[in-house]
Amino acid sequence: MKIPRLRKGWLPLTALGLLLAAALLLFYARSRDYDASSYFANLALLRHLKQLDASWELNVMKSRVGLNQNYDALVDPLPDVATLPQQLAVLQQNAPEPLQKKLEQVLRAFQQAMTEKARLIEAFKSHNAILRNSLAFLPMAATDAGAELPEKTASSRAQSELSSAVNAVLLATLVYTEAPAPEHMVNVRTELEALLDFRSRQSGESLLKLDIFLAHVRTVLREHAQVSQLLLQIAQAPTAAHLDEINNLLTQQQQHAAGEAHMHRLYLLLFSAGLAALLLYAAIRLLRSHRIINRINHALQHANEHLERRVRLRTQELEQAQSQLVAAARQAGMAEIATNVLHNVGNVLNSVGVSVSLLVRQARDSRAPGLSKAVQLINKQGAQWVDFLRGDERGQRLPAYLDELAGALGAERQNALAELNSLSSSIDHIKDIIATQQSYAGAACLLEDCSLDHLLEEALGMSGLAGQQDGIAIMRDYHALPPLRLDRHRVLQILINLLGNARRAMDGLAAGERRLILRLRQSADDSVQLQVADSGEGIPAENLARIFSHGFTTRKDGHGFGLHSCVLAAREMGGSLQAASDGPGTGATFTLQLPIHSSAKDCTP
Ligand SMILES: Nc1ncnc2c1ncn2[C@@H]1O[C@H](COP(=O)(O)OP(=O)(O)O)[C@@H](O)[C@H]1O
Ligand SMILES: [Mg+2]
Repeated sequence: MKIPRLRKGWLPLTALGLLLAAALLLFYARSRDYDASSYFANLALLRHLKQLDASWELNVMKSRVGLNQNYDALVDPLPDVATLPQQLAVLQQNAPEPLQKKLEQVLRAFQQAMTEKARLIEAFKSHNAILRNSLAFLPMAATDAGAELPEKTASSRAQSELSSAVNAVLLATLVYTEAPAPEHMVNVRTELEALLDFRSRQSGESLLKLDIFLAHVRTVLREHAQVSQLLLQIAQAPTAAHLDEINNLLTQQQQHAAGEAHMHRLYLLLFSAGLAALLLYAAIRLLRSHRIINRINHALQHANEHLERRVRLRTQELEQAQSQLVAAARQAGMAEIATNVLHNVGNVLNSVGVSVSLLVRQARDSRAPGLSKAVQLINKQGAQWVDFLRGDERGQRLPAYLDELAGALGAERQNALAELNSLSSSIDHIKDIIATQQSYAGAACLLEDCSLDHLLEEALGMSGLAGQQDGIAIMRDYHALPPLRLDRHRVLQILINLLGNARRAMDGLAAGERRLILRLRQSADDSVQLQVADSGEGIPAENLARIFSHGFTTRKDGHGFGLHSCVLAAREMGGSLQAASDGPGTGATFTLQLPIHSSAKDCTP
């Protein structure tokens, strides 16, 4: 089943989600920066400052026309005028760039204007006090100047003219102060000149009073001009304009900030929508993945069950096959053991057969019947057997014949004994072969002290080669070696096999060409070598590697078990068996290498 790649695409999705979340946080933080409350606080402060400014100017006007009896109203706003713009400065510090600088400039200008205005009002206050004072005294001074003096002798007409000139000046002055038009000023000057004409004619107390009146008139005219000038300047002070400008700037800033906040909210909305869409998409993918995983799980479970069933089935089959194999192996093992036994026993039976046929031939050719004939001849003479032995010619030859016969029979007996010994040793070997094979599963060997040259001779005897049979010339090249502890029967079995093979390899040769060389020497510090070399058919190179395999043979009547069992036996004794040949027709050499200190396992010493 094809498994979809679930992981694909999750990484970019996650990255996008993180990016959106970061952008959201950023815009949230920036939209929080905008604080409308400072703007409204500034507006309230501006309004308050405007009111203060307006009421200040109103109080100036009231003082000017004398509605205010004292000047507290002009002094009271001074602390506020000094501190409130600073509060505005503190508030506007939160204003964002780029309006900040402009605001600072305008605010500084406003503060300067306010300071200047305070200075003007201060000046106005002193000038206006003098003006109001002179105006208050002017009617009284006029009355004094125009009054008739008791010590004076002047005519009443002149007195009334002076009085009317003084009154005309008073009136013109008052009119001018109420409506300071140029023509009223001309009027005041005309009336004053007229009065100055009268002054030259005055003297004494009346001149003094007239001068007092004139001084007041001049003070009123001077201070009035000053006060009017100051009022004009106060009215022209640009505080209100600056306040309006500040107001405008704050409004601009507020609009800008509100616009930005609006933009940020819009971005927030957009990114939130994006994030929500992403989450929705992720949820849909998750659901899909979940469905796929479920499907895969089911498929896996199914496959698992199927697999388990198959494994159970296979296990059963394997168990069956194994038990069959075990049975087959047991049978094969038994067959191999049987083959080995038969083969090795067959080898020994060869020499048994040789011994038996020798004994049979010896019994057939025995001189023993000659003895019974001699005994019959003597029995036939009866009581004259002594005369027969003395007088008869045959009787005279009989003792010599019997003597010769005894010697021949003695030799026969010796031969028979020797053959019977060989037979008995062959039978022992057969027993050993069988015992060895029977005990394959148990202790397989028995160590004895053996002289290797004796062992070689014994093998030669058991192979029927001791007496140069079949025209085979045997050469011995034995180095003197001390006896070794060996599994004697295993070594014998190997040697008998090698000698049997060598004999058969020389079957095709003429009698004079058959040569067998036996060598015995120490090959290294810790091992000995036994070599069987023949002048037989030799071994082709391609066969050299295979001759030790079980079942390999080139002979019609061969089995291919001999060398295989030999190499196994050599290994079991901790040694080795090697074959060498220069090829067909050059003979072969087999070398059995055995350790001096047997390392054979499972051996009872
Ligand atoms: N001395 C030898 N000279 C030449 N060939 C040999 C000799 N010994 C063994 N062989 C070869 O090795 C083969 C295997 O020998 P072996 O295992 O004893 O089985 P078998 O004697 O039954 O053939 C023989 O068939 C033969 O070809
Ligand atoms: Mg053989």
